[in-house]
Parts: sequence; C-alpha cells; structure tokens
Amino acid sequence: MIKSIDFGQLYREHLARSGRVFKTPAQWDSKAAQGRGKALDSSYRTAFVSRMQCSIEDTVLDIGCGPGTIGLALAGQVKQVYGLDYSQGMLDAMLENAAELQLDNVQPILASWDDDWSEVPVCDIAVVSRASIVADMDDALDKLNRHARKKVYMTQLVGGRFVSREVEALLGREDRSFPDHIYIMNMLYQRNIYPTLDYIESPSRLADSNSLEELLDKVRWSFGELSGDDEAKISDWYQQDPQYAQQGGEPMRWAFMSWTPPKH
Ligand SMILES: C[S@@+](CC[C@H](N)C(=O)[O-])C[C@H]1O[C@@H](n2cnc3c(N)ncnc32)[C@H](O)[C@@H]1O
Repeated sequence: MIKSIDFGQLYREHLARSGRVFKTPAQWDSKAAQGRGKALDSSYRTAFVSRMQCSIEDTVLDIGCGPGTIGLALAGQVKQVYGLDYSQGMLDAMLENAAELQLDNVQPILASWDDDWSEVPVCDIAVVSRASIVADMDDALDKLNRHARKKVYMTQLVGGRFVSREVEALLGREDRSFPDHIYIMNMLYQRNIYPTLDYIESPSRLADSNSLEELLDKVRWSFGELSGDDEAKISDWYQQDPQYAQQGGEPMRWAFMSWTPPKH
C-alpha cells in the first residue's frame, strides 16, 4: 500500500496549499552581507556538523550553501568543498568568509536546484542545510542521490513552520505550513533507502520574551495584527505558564536526515 502512494505529488499539493512564494536570487543577494558573519557561529551549525562523518580525502557539495554555514565548517577536515547557490551575493559572502578563515579549498558554483546539474561535480558527500523547500522534491532527491557517492545530510523543518504550531492553533489561523520531512522520509523509503533521523532544536521565534507585551510584539511580527480577542487568548496562554510562554512555547525543530545513496 505505502509504496503506491505518490508522496511527490502530495508534497507538491502541500506546497501549493502553503502559498509559498519562492524568493528570487536577488532577494537572497540583499540578505547575504548582513548574514555573512553570523552564519559561522550558531549552535545549529555545531549540531549539524557534529552529526556528520567525513575524512580528509572527501569532497563535499553544499547545496544552498548560503554564506558557507556548513561547508566552511568542514573545509579544514576535507579535500574540497563546492558551495552551490543561485545567489551570487551568497557565494561572494562564502568566499569572503573562506578568505578570512584562510581556507583555499572552497569553490563556488552558481546554479539552482532547478537547473540541469550535468556540470555539477559528483562528490563524496552532499549537504543540504535549511535549503530544501524545493518545487519538485522527486527531482531534488534524484539529483542528491546522483551527486553523492557516500552520504547525503539534509535538514528540513519539522511541522513545516517557523512559527509556533500551538500559537497558530490558539489564534485559529489557517494552516500554512510547508511540506515537512515526513514526505522525504517516505519518498526515500519508496526508493529502498533507509535514512537515519535525528532532530536539531532551535529556540522558537517567539522565544526570549520577558513580558506579555514582548511576547505580543513577537506574535504580531509572525502572525500580523492581533484583534482584542487574539490578545486575550495569548494573555491567557501566557498566564497559564509564564516561563513556558517566555521561551516561546515549543522549540523549532529541524529534522536531520542522513542516508547512503544507491550505488551509481
Ligand atoms: C536559509 S539559507 C540556508 C543557508 C545555509 N545552508 C544555512 O544553513 O545557513 C537558504 C539558501 O538557499 C539558497 N537557495 C534558495 N533557493 C535556491 C535554489 N532554488 N537553488 C539554489 N539555491 C537556493 C539561498 O540563496 C540561500 O543561500
């Protein structure tokens, strides 16, 4: 039964329902300078890299590499890192970071998930970190499996949202979540691939509120203007367990999936 379900189609339907508007490379370009340094110092980055295995002989393809968050953390331990991104601004930021770190084995590739990857090198390891809300997941998984010899490491949002599920439900807002990792787990299973699954937790976007007012501001930022009724609901939620509410409720969870691609 499960093998006959078209999870690729379900993924596309879920993505359409989410109303996802894909950013242009230029929109990412404008974020690149501001995020350049910050990317290299985060508990998420440490958590991602600590779950990987690589050796000094390995080549790494980091897809949607951004300013080099994961690729640059690996560059000192592997032979070569290729950072692939469709934003020239992000690739420039990665190269600036690499120069500051005196890394000379980092090469940029200006390309998109949607391009023909015949010129993209096949590497030992493929990495996709926070960069896989793609239009066509079947195609993305095929590309990853063709371009990695030893291992693929990928993170995808659990529940498909950056904002709190609890607060979304509390406010009765429409479910606009993105397709999450469960589609990918099923699509890999259907390809006779058996990924390992782990979770990386980050504080909720509503975290670090020291008062109800601060929490309300954060909720407005994520959910838009609040009615008096909405504010009363958030206030009740806050009063029930102020400590939990101040940490923004549930943490944001990234599913960390890794698998061995089929032999080429
Ligand atoms: C959220 S950032 C993640 C950067 C980095 N991997 C990290 O974890 O910090 C997403 C990156 O994916 C890139 N990106 C988005 N859509 C893409 C596409 N269709 N093809 C290639 N890169 C894309 C963006 O330019 C951006 O650098």
